[in-house]
Amino acid sequence: MIGNDIVDLALTRKESNWKRKGFLNKIFTKKEQMLILNSGNPEIMVWNLWSRKEAAYKIYNRQTLIRGYFPLQLECFNFENSNGLSFGKVQIEDKVYYTKTEISSQYIYTIAVDNSKYFDKIKTLENRKNIKKINGIPSYIEKDSLYTEPASISHHGIFERIISI
Ligand SMILES: CC(C)(COP(=O)(O)OP(=O)(O)OC[C@H]1O[C@@H](n2cnc3c(N)ncnc32)[C@H](O)[C@@H]1OP(=O)(O)O)[C@@H](O)C(=O)NCCC(=O)NCCS
Repeated sequence: MIGNDIVDLALTRKESNWKRKGFLNKIFTKKEQMLILNSGNPEIMVWNLWSRKEAAYKIYNRQTLIRGYFPLQLECFNFENSNGLSFGKVQIEDKVYYTKTEISSQYIYTIAVDNSKYFDKIKTLENRKNIKKINGIPSYIEKDSLYTEPASISHHGIFERIISI
């Protein structure tokens, strides 16, 4: 299972004021708020955590078919940096998802998987040609085959990423 989420930083700067009253309390747990407020760059940490939660939610949504807005139930933990990427986990209920986040000056991009061995199997697709949505959830369909693989789509501002396994 996979999920992804991209954040266009220029757009968040235009449209989302993370410093507005109540925003952090509504989206982030106490532990996450401590991480944000103790970070050298709180703005980047806000969208870093946001992107992890959204990518993990997409797996949760595929597994459970539950849709909704419950950011406080998704909690990020276990942060590690390696080769310029930021790894971590997101928990919701008894489920734990693995995340890999790329932070650039223009965007923050997270891929989430339910088993860390899938990180090496992720393919980034150029277009939606072989993508079909069922219940709004995208899958990749091999040409001339009924075999499907999970896919995930994310777009924000000038960025779009489509992935499959
Ligand atoms: C549905 C939701 C995840 C969409 O996220 P978004 O940042 O607004 O938009 P994105 O572009 O990243 O994602 C939308 C794409 O996800 C794809 N998608 C929807 N469900 C998916 C799933 N379960 N798995 C993979 N991809 C999925 C869709 O194809 C859609 O693209 P399209 O409409 O162009 O085909 C988000 O609106 C939401 O409801 N989040 C709930 C979780 C939560 O509580 N978040 C709070 C912030 S941390």
